[in-house]
Amino acid sequence: MACRTTAGAADYLVAGLTMLEYRGYDSAGLAVSAADGSTAVFRTTQRVNALHDLAKAWGGPSLGGIGIGHTRWATHGGVRVANAHPHQDCLRRLSVVHNGIIDNAPHLRAELQQLGHVFQSDVDSEVICHLVEDALATTGDLLEAVNRTVQQLTGSWAIVVLDGETRRMVAAAHRSPLLVAHSDRGMFLASDVSAIADWVDEFHILDDGDVVEVSDELVWLRDGVAVDAPDPIASPTQASGRRLDAGDHMASEIDEQPEAAARVLNDIGSLIANGALWRGLGLPRFDRLRVVACGTSLNAGQVIGAGLSRLGGLAHSVVVASEAAGSVIEPGTLTLAISQSGETADVLRAIDESPIGTPVLALVNNAHSTLARKVGSVLVCPAGPEVGVAATKTFVCQVLMGAGLVISALVASGRMSQTTARALVDDLAQTPERLAAAADSARLALPGVIEDVRNANGFIFLGRGAAVPYAAEGALKLKELTYRWAEAYPAGELKHGPLALVEDGTPVVVVDDADPRLVGNIAEVSARGGRILTIGQPGSRIEVPLSKHSPCGPLEAVVPLQLLALNLAADLGFDVDKPRNLAKSVTVD
Ligand code: F6R
Repeated sequence: MACRTTAGAADYLVAGLTMLEYRGYDSAGLAVSAADGSTAVFRTTQRVNALHDLAKAWGGPSLGGIGIGHTRWATHGGVRVANAHPHQDCLRRLSVVHNGIIDNAPHLRAELQQLGHVFQSDVDSEVICHLVEDALATTGDLLEAVNRTVQQLTGSWAIVVLDGETRRMVAAAHRSPLLVAHSDRGMFLASDVSAIADWVDEFHILDDGDVVEVSDELVWLRDGVAVDAPDPIASPTQASGRRLDAGDHMASEIDEQPEAAARVLNDIGSLIANGALWRGLGLPRFDRLRVVACGTSLNAGQVIGAGLSRLGGLAHSVVVASEAAGSVIEPGTLTLAISQSGETADVLRAIDESPIGTPVLALVNNAHSTLARKVGSVLVCPAGPEVGVAATKTFVCQVLMGAGLVISALVASGRMSQTTARALVDDLAQTPERLAAAADSARLALPGVIEDVRNANGFIFLGRGAAVPYAAEGALKLKELTYRWAEAYPAGELKHGPLALVEDGTPVVVVDDADPRLVGNIAEVSARGGRILTIGQPGSRIEVPLSKHSPCGPLEAVVPLQLLALNLAADLGFDVDKPRNLAKSVTVD
């Protein structure tokens, strides 16, 4: 992020970066202009708050209101202070923060080194400082220098360059989110509006290829030509009044799930059984669905795709976004891109690489995200801000929204009667109550369960049919939060290899939606000493009210699965809101 205010840049930057802490990072830094034309740089591999202490202890010339700041999630180069942003040019005149990856950095670095530039870090981003340094020496103008520099880069970037000598500040973006806002406090730049929402009412988003000088006014270049700033967008996070920097986020987000589910049903409930939800999207009729997503959103996609095939007999495929390149898309396919953040680089790239003319629908939790802006048709989940790094309430909202979409599309295309659809919607309407009951039941049973599995190093999660994606989601949550190995399998697959992992006491979590074939699978595990933990039908260790007819399958089982991961992680002393190595919004591919 960056700010251009009358005073106190370090305070603004630390406050803004604190608001972004939830996204996950491993180092942080600031560069702030000083009264003598120099730039003070503070960097740390500790928490953002350490920057506050470093800036307070500063004994040099007084610091002003212009500065840039960054939290880094390591891609190129290990976690060490020298690799933290901001980076500087050889003369320490220019400071740069960068999100994204410069694909041609090795080549540029070699060229720059041949020209005599000296590098201080291992990171790709540092090439930007030296390129701007050279371009500035030639042009004498920072805006032009940054404009020339970005033309030499391949990859993705959201950058802000601060010239300590002239105090000019220029930003540029390509395939990485960046927005600029101005208010009576000054000018602000951020990769996520939540960093600055307390100080601004509206913001402008940089498009791919934009270069913007931020002085008292905005000078906006698109393809090198000066244009007006794009229309402003109202700041949504401020409207929610939600503090992003404090509190047990994941626990409260799990608690909020019944409420979030009710919001989804309130928004779309009346539009499902009459086909209006689908028709409102203006998309062509489709014969098969291709879901593209990552992580938890991918698991939601599995549920949605399976629901379409089960209810409508239409084929579906679920593609890991980072592996989507080259997948064959048959005529009549609708691509459904699911991403709560709408900023996941793997998903954005997969959509960019889809053949031109392929219909794409985005399912996001942020109406202003890059994915939402890139794609013509968008469904926005009303989950509200999700701060815990591990996705919980956004998953539940994606699944419900996706189920509504599927039913509505089947009605609109004449593949399902409105009567059948109404019965399914009536069933969906019970979801908030069932989610709340699942949480109550889990809370009662979990202390004993945690006692049993506290020392286990590895877990297996099983399900059959509609339960398989929930087993996958349970395993993902457990490994993210507890750092224990956890693998999910369709229960029938166990005997084809993974059963070798089961020994005395191995926890095997079964999402039990009363599929009769599970009885045999459970017996196979028990016979080898595995410790069975069933979640689902009456008689399970954690009983969950499931509906046999829900278009979402055993959705409610996800609540005990989330709570198992959360409670075990807390018991082991881990920070569940900021699991190690992970970021909330993964903007690099
Ligand atoms: C897991 C989790 C991640 C995300 C994944 C995709 O708890 O949060 O697996 O689901 O990084 O993120 P989005 O949905 O923002 O594209």
